[in-house]
Amino acid sequence: MDNELINKRYKIINITKELIPSIIKIADKELGNNFILPSHISENQHISMCASTIKKNKIIGFLLNQILTYSEFLSIYSNIAEKYDCFRNIKKIGIIKTIAVDSKWQQKGIGTNLINTLLNKIYLKCDDQIYSNIDLIFMMGWKQKNGIINISGIKNKFNFIEIGQINNFYYNNSLKYNYSCPVCGNPPCYCSVVLYIKKI
Ligand SMILES: CC(C)(COP(=O)(O)OP(=O)(O)OC[C@H]1O[C@@H](n2cnc3c(N)ncnc32)[C@H](O)[C@@H]1OP(=O)(O)O)[C@@H](O)C(=O)NCCC(=O)NCCS
Repeated sequence: MDNELINKRYKIINITKELIPSIIKIADKELGNNFILPSHISENQHISMCASTIKKNKIIGFLLNQILTYSEFLSIYSNIAEKYDCFRNIKKIGIIKTIAVDSKWQQKGIGTNLINTLLNKIYLKCDDQIYSNIDLIFMMGWKQKNGIINISGIKNKFNFIEIGQINNFYYNNSLKYNYSCPVCGNPPCYCSVVLYIKKI
């Protein structure tokens, strides 16, 4: 993979079952306890990826993706799919569900590299049929209750367009799964999600 050549300190690899505990460890630290559950990753692992150090094979960041047909998107994300015109007439959609980099490794281009790897796969239509015919990428960005959006740098860098916001997006699930947000603390979580798209 190109990224392995570009960067000698880490490589971007697919997520395998054995790596799930390391991914959860980063998620618990950077996104909050129980925000990501193992079941979220096993559903997505074939198209999700992580950054692993070359020296010690330590997982230092990850990107969870989903690739859906329009009808799948409509059934899983009905409120969003029906509300925004940009989703009409799409064939397939790539969804960036979550991205996180271990705080010790942030601001070193790893988040950028993870997104670049996904975009390259989509533009080059790698892995047979999985990445072909994707019209749109949809990204959900965590907006903390204090207004901070950590993904804003990446959103600008890759020219994602903001289409809307859902307030208290995590409220119900934070109570259901006992998710403790790094900003709100114990549930409920009052943070929002900002919706971004990028046309392919
Ligand atoms: C958001 C996150 C994934 C970025 O990963 P990263 O490896 O640090 O990102 P990069 O080093 O590739 O930086 C990408 C751009 O974002 C900017 N950036 C990085 N962290 C940022 C932050 N916390 N707030 C705003 N911008 C940030 C960088 O300055 C860079 O822009 P530039 O190249 O123009 O300077 C990482 O900060 C993180 O894991 N945060 C905690 C979890 C989180 O909020 N995840 C996003 C949920 S949607």
